[in-house]
Amino acid sequence: MRWIGTSFKMTKTIAESAAYAARLRDAIGPRLPAGVRPFVIPPATAIETVARTLGADSPVLVGAQNAHWADGGAWTGEISMPQAADAGARIVELGHSERRAHFAETDATVRLKVAAALRHGLIPLVCVGEDAGTFAAGGSADHVVAQARAALDGLADTGSVLLAYEPVWAIGDAGRPAEPAEIAAPVAALRDAVGDRVAGVLYGGSVAPDNAAALLGVPGVDGLFVGRAAWRVSGLLALLDIAGER
Ligand code: 13P
Repeated sequence: MRWIGTSFKMTKTIAESAAYAARLRDAIGPRLPAGVRPFVIPPATAIETVARTLGADSPVLVGAQNAHWADGGAWTGEISMPQAADAGARIVELGHSERRAHFAETDATVRLKVAAALRHGLIPLVCVGEDAGTFAAGGSADHVVAQARAALDGLADTGSVLLAYEPVWAIGDAGRPAEPAEIAAPVAALRDAVGDRVAGVLYGGSVAPDNAAALLGVPGVDGLFVGRAAWRVSGLLALLDIAGER
């Protein structure tokens, strides 16, 4: 299975998300390649709309960009796993580097959230990745393996978990696209360490149609987690086609 998906991050209104979902729904039926599993992670405000627009039998999984470890209660500003699921999410993204950097997400809170997601039948999409300094010092593999082990620590039945290796230096407008050779060792290390406990290892960070095939060709990469290049439906469709050709 090749997983190809996007997080909208903090972009798109409900109407824009709905238009995206409708275009994707209409395009994907006839052209979804076999063995490719798309997913879309809108802002929390649009999860319900995107899920409803795609329809219950859509091959596209809908996700949340974050959810809390507690099932409910006095956690102002948060949404719970049951609330995300109620809105239509089947995946929950956890530990993205933007949340680790700006919102005090830690290995410990990521692990609590993985446990909560599994408890509520959501697929945890756990992001791991090293910063530029760690990369330059040759510490990438050790860093991401430690993050992945921490996320799964002590948890049983983690077979639905997806890992996304997203080097911080490769993400976003300030990022530099990674060369396939640069991601091979961390991906291999993740597979060696926890590959038998997860459903797959995705790669993310400045993925675009011009580098997608090469990144998918790195041994151990089961899919791509995309930001900017899939914020238009045409971008996501191009990436689905590339994944289908491999
Ligand atoms: P970009 O593809 O925009 O670099 O973002 C990647 C990412 O952070 C996906 O979670």
